[in-house]
Amino acid sequence: MNQASTPANEQAAYWNEEGGARWVRHIDGVETMLEPLNARLLECVAAAAGERVLDVGCGGGITSAALARAVGERGHVTGLDVSKVILDVARARYASLPNLEFLLADAGMHAFAPASYDLLTSRFGVMFFPAPHAAFANLRRAMKLGARLCFLCWRRLDENPWMGLAAAAAFSVLPPPPRPEPGAPGPFSFAKRERVTDILTVAGFGNIEFEAVDRGIDLGSLDEAMTWLTNMGPAAQPLREANEDHRAQALDAMREALGNAERNGRVVLNGATWVVKAQAS
Ligand SMILES: C[S@@+](CC[C@H](N)C(=O)[O-])C[C@H]1O[C@@H](n2cnc3c(N)ncnc32)[C@H](O)[C@@H]1O
Repeated sequence: MNQASTPANEQAAYWNEEGGARWVRHIDGVETMLEPLNARLLECVAAAAGERVLDVGCGGGITSAALARAVGERGHVTGLDVSKVILDVARARYASLPNLEFLLADAGMHAFAPASYDLLTSRFGVMFFPAPHAAFANLRRAMKLGARLCFLCWRRLDENPWMGLAAAAAFSVLPPPPRPEPGAPGPFSFAKRERVTDILTVAGFGNIEFEAVDRGIDLGSLDEAMTWLTNMGPAAQPLREANEDHRAQALDAMREALGNAERNGRVVLNGATWVVKAQAS
């Protein structure tokens, strides 16, 4: 099945085209940055030997592989992603793990075998559904009754200076992009607990819990932080579209803001997330 060749939504197109290409280009750096958050996610997930696990929006598969090791040879992990370019990286990396398979599909629309999974997880892969109520209802059908859901998503941009500080500096010079519609798919679309609670409740989940998890995200040296934040994040596209003068001024403002945050040659800024836990009811 190759749903990604006919993307059903803009997000799928984005992750198969420029978004996916950019993610692959920076994949090792991004995964290293996200590592401090991974540990808490895996603790909360608590995958047990023999379980069948679905990792939604698995990207390069780093979390799927950790789960495959945790569930052992009697267990099984499916890493699912809508992006062929990103999934190609996952497949090349983890071909040697016999209990791990990668599936190219849209999580919101894939016809899963009903009641197949003991555990559904995701590291930052569930905030991009154009119709999240329907997507989570679809995922719920794939889970056994009582199965665990546990995923990581970002809180608000203004609580995430690792992403927001440099962007705010850039937007002191450049016109900011239009504010997304409330609830529009994107990295911060699951910031509000009430909204996530509503999506999960309507989809058939109970025992919903939120744990705020904050970690310092190490963006590297000042130059590395600038490379990362000019290629990805809220300011990347406006910078590409700006004229030369404005772009240069915005880059100066970003460098100054990040420079003020630099300590001992590294820029480390807070990343604010929810670990969301629930149960298929
Ligand atoms: C921010 S990346 C996270 C990747 C990976 N979980 C990680 O933490 O390294 C989001 C991922 O979700 C995937 N994605 C977005 N919409 C999706 C959908 N509807 N179905 C499956 N995957 C999706 C993207 O292709 C991308 O790989």
